[in-house]
Amino acid sequence: MNKSLRKAVIAGNWKMNKTPAETTALINEMKPLVADADCDVVLCVPYVDIFAAVEAAKGSNIKIGAENCHWAASGAFTGEVSAEMLKACGVEYVITGHSERRTYFGDTDVTVHDRTRAALDNGLNVILCVGEYLEQREQNITMEVVRSQVKIALAGVSEEELGKVIIAYEPVWAIGTGKTATADQAEEVCKAIRDLICELYSKEAADKFVVQYGGSMNAKNADELVDKEDVDGGLIGGASLKAPDFAAIVKAASK
Ligand code: PGA
Repeated sequence: MNKSLRKAVIAGNWKMNKTPAETTALINEMKPLVADADCDVVLCVPYVDIFAAVEAAKGSNIKIGAENCHWAASGAFTGEVSAEMLKACGVEYVITGHSERRTYFGDTDVTVHDRTRAALDNGLNVILCVGEYLEQREQNITMEVVRSQVKIALAGVSEEELGKVIIAYEPVWAIGTGKTATADQAEEVCKAIRDLICELYSKEAADKFVVQYGGSMNAKNADELVDKEDVDGGLIGGASLKAPDFAAIVKAASK
C-alpha cells in the first residue's frame, strides 16, 4: 500500500450550525488560509446554507458538500432533500451514514446504502461514515461492525463508482467528546477498511481509496493522525467551525 498514491481530503462537517450570513463570513475567512492546501478541502454544511456556501467558495479550492441526502429522486417525503436537488445547487459531496443520523434519526445500514446509491447515481462524491459504539469496542467487535457497515453500504457499487467514495472511520465514542482515538487505533481500523476494499474490489482500487479518520480531530492532534499510513485526512466537526483551527488541520494534511 502506498500513501503517495492518494491525496488527503480534509472535510468539515458543520452539523446544525451557522446561518447563511455566518456561512459567508466563515468561508471568506477560511479561503485565504487554505488557498495553498496540498489536499482536497471540503465543507459540508446545512441545507439552508448551501447557496451561501457555494457562492462564497466560488473561485476557491473549497468544495461544498451536504450532510445527508434522501434515497428517492422525488416524492412524498416531507422535510427531505434529494441528491438531484443537491447537485442542482452546486453541491459536489454528501455525507452518508453519519453516526448522528444513525443514532437520532433512524438511519440503518440499509438506508445508508440507499442514500449512498442515490448520491452516486447523481454524480455526487460520497463521504460514507462508519464506526463502532464504545460498547462494541469493549466487546472486541469493532472490525465486524465496521466491515459489515462498509459491505452493506457499498453493495452493488462498481469499482468505477468507488472512485467517488471516501470512507470516514468515526468511532462514535470519539465524536464531539474530546476523546480522540489514538493514532494507532485510527490506523488499525483505517487499514482494515483498506484491506476490505482490496478484498471486495482490487489492490489498485484499495491503493487509491481515501480513508479518513473523524472524531475530535483538532489542530493539535491532526499531525499525528494524518501521518499514519492509512489515514488520508479527516472529517472534522467542532474544529471546522473555527477558521484558524480548520486551516491548521488542512496544513497538517498538506505535508
Ligand atoms: P467532531 O465531529 O470533530 O466534533 O468530533 C466529527 C464528526 O462528527 O464528523
